[in-house]
Amino acid sequence: MKVLLSGATGFVGTEVLTQALLHPRITSVIALSRKPLPAPFDTNAKVQTVIVEDFESYSPSVLSQLKGVDACIWYVSFSISPLPFSHSYMGDGT
Ligand SMILES: NC(=O)c1ccc[n+]([C@@H]2O[C@H](COP(=O)([O-])OP(=O)(O)OC[C@H]3O[C@@H](n4cnc5c(N)ncnc54)[C@H](OP(=O)(O)O)[C@@H]3O)[C@@H](O)[C@H]2O)c1
Repeated sequence: MKVLLSGATGFVGTEVLTQALLHPRITSVIALSRKPLPAPFDTNAKVQTVIVEDFESYSPSVLSQLKGVDACIWYVSFSISPLPFSHSYMGDGT
């Protein structure tokens, strides 16, 4: 099974990648990432890193490298700060 994983450089994604590489039914992992993966993943033969600068735009070259994927695990995390309700709740309690 070929798995596509995003967020592989993150807290959860790193552990998901570790477990995926140990799983006997997963033959390869494509890590969709803004930057190269750190060691030891960068030299693991089961991992292919596809660099994407903007996750809202995928070039034909990137899409061609995603062909044949059986499953997708998406762990990109976006921070939303400051919280829009922070002043309302921490101020006068309304
Ligand atoms: N941490 C927890 O305990 C926990 C528990 C339950 C659920 N979750 C959920 O799991 C998900 C991941 O959480 P996390 O703690 O692993 O987050 P994290 O450590 O901050 O990792 C975020 C990942 O998303 C990537 N990313 C962030 N912004 C991006 C963007 N604009 N375009 C492309 N990639 C981007 C980061 O890549 P770069 O390295 O390039 O920045 C990184 O790989 C979130 O949805 C979170 O709600 C987390």
